[in-house]
Amino acid sequence: MPSFSSMEPQALAQETREQRDRCDAFRAMSLSLNMARGKPCKDQLDAVAGLLDALPSTDYRDETGFDLRNYGLVEGIPEARRLFGALLGVPMDQVLAMGNSSLNLMFDVMVRCLHLRLPGSERPWKEEPVLKFLCPVPGYDRHFAITKEFGFEMIPVEMTPDGPDMDAVERLAGADPAVKGIWCIPVYSNPDGITYSEETCRRLAAMRTAAPDFRIFWDNAYFLHHLDPSNPDRVPDILSLCSEQGHADRPYEFASTSKITFAGGGIACVAASPGNVAMLKRSFGIQTIGPDKLNQLRHVRFLRNPERVAEIMARHADILRPKFDTVLSILEQELGETGTARWNRPRGGYFISLFVGDGLASRVVAMAKELGVEFTPAGATYPYGRDPRDHNIRIAPSFPPIAELETAIRVLCACIRLAAAEKLLADRSAS
Ligand SMILES: Cc1ncc(COP(=O)(O)O)c(C=O)c1O
Repeated sequence: MPSFSSMEPQALAQETREQRDRCDAFRAMSLSLNMARGKPCKDQLDAVAGLLDALPSTDYRDETGFDLRNYGLVEGIPEARRLFGALLGVPMDQVLAMGNSSLNLMFDVMVRCLHLRLPGSERPWKEEPVLKFLCPVPGYDRHFAITKEFGFEMIPVEMTPDGPDMDAVERLAGADPAVKGIWCIPVYSNPDGITYSEETCRRLAAMRTAAPDFRIFWDNAYFLHHLDPSNPDRVPDILSLCSEQGHADRPYEFASTSKITFAGGGIACVAASPGNVAMLKRSFGIQTIGPDKLNQLRHVRFLRNPERVAEIMARHADILRPKFDTVLSILEQELGETGTARWNRPRGGYFISLFVGDGLASRVVAMAKELGVEFTPAGATYPYGRDPRDHNIRIAPSFPPIAELETAIRVLCACIRLAAAEKLLADRSAS
C-alpha cells in the first residue's frame, strides 16, 4: 500500500469505494463498542480480588496499636504512608495517605492554593487578578476540567518525546507571575504514554518562575504501570530535585492504587515538602476527621511491600500487553504505509495516542460513532475541549475484550482511510 499522498486520483477514488463498502459492512453489524474507557478490565479486577479478604474482623489496629475503626489519623495510617513513601522514593513523613481518589486530592489541593496562603505565597491565588496554568497537550481532560472550573486561563504547551516543551515552559513560567503552575503526568503520560526525561525533570525543578508560589501538580498516576516490567521507565524523585534547587515547596506529587487494586476503591496520597504537608494536614483536618483507615489497612495487608506490588503490576501487564499489541499491530497493518496517521508506542500506562491529518479527528470519531464504536470525543485531550489542529484521538485498550478491540480498531482504521482519501480528493479538486 503506497502512501495516500502519492496515489493517483483513480486509486484514491477506488480506496474511498473500498472503505465505504467496509463501513457499510460494519454498519450492518449493528455494533455497540466503547473504546473511551481508560479503566481496568474484569480480569485485572479479578486478579486483585483477594484485597476484599485481606482484613479479618480481628485485624483493626495499626502498628502503634491505634484502633482504626475509630475517628482520627487525618494524615493516614503509618503503614500506608510508609508504603507510598517506599514506592515513590520519598520519606513517609512527607506523605499524606488519604481517601479513594488522587483526582479528588488534586481538586482539594487546588482549592487550598486558591483560598489559603501557601508556603512561599504572598496571598491566596484567588486574590490575583488573573490566573493561568500550563497544560501540556495532549493531556488528561479531568486535569483541564479542574483548572477550567476555577477560572484559570489554560495555556497549552506541546508535548515532546521528552515531556513538555521545556523551552516554552521556562519562557511562560519565567515571564508571567499569573502563571501559577503546570499539570504533569511524568510517567507514561495520559494519553501519549511519554515518560519525562531526567533533563526535563531537572529543568522543571530548577527553572526560574515569575510567580514565587509556582506549583507543579505532579500526577504520578502511572508510575508503576509498565507494559514491560523487566524494563521499566522511571523518573527522578521530583521532591528532592526541587529541594536541591531551593524550590522545595514547588511540587505536589499525587498517586493512587486505582489501577493497582480497584479503580476508585483504592487509596490515594499526596507527597510534598514538610511545609506543604503541614499546611495540607492542618487544612484537611478541618475538612475531615480522617480517611477510611480500614481500607488503608486492608490495602497494606494485601499489597505488603514494593516487591509484592511489583508482582501485582506484572499481572496487570500480562493482561494489558496483548491488548496494546493488538491495537498497535492493526494500526501498523492498516495505516502503516498510508501516511494518514501516526501514533505512539507506549511502554506503559493506559492509552495509545493517535494523530490523524489536521482537521480530521472529529470527523473520524463521528464516523466511528455512527458505525457503533465510541472513542473519547475529539478535542477532549486539550484545554476547553479544543484541539486547534483537530488531529488527536485517544485510544483506551484496557477495558474491552480482545475480540471487541480488533473490531473497534478495524472500524477506526476504515474511518481514517476513508476520511483521509476523501480529503485528499477534495483538496486536489479544489486546487
Ligand atoms: C493521569 C490520571 N490521573 C488521575 C486519574 C484518576 O486517578 P484516581 O482514581 O486516583 O482519582 C486518572 C484516571 O484515569 C489519570 O489518567
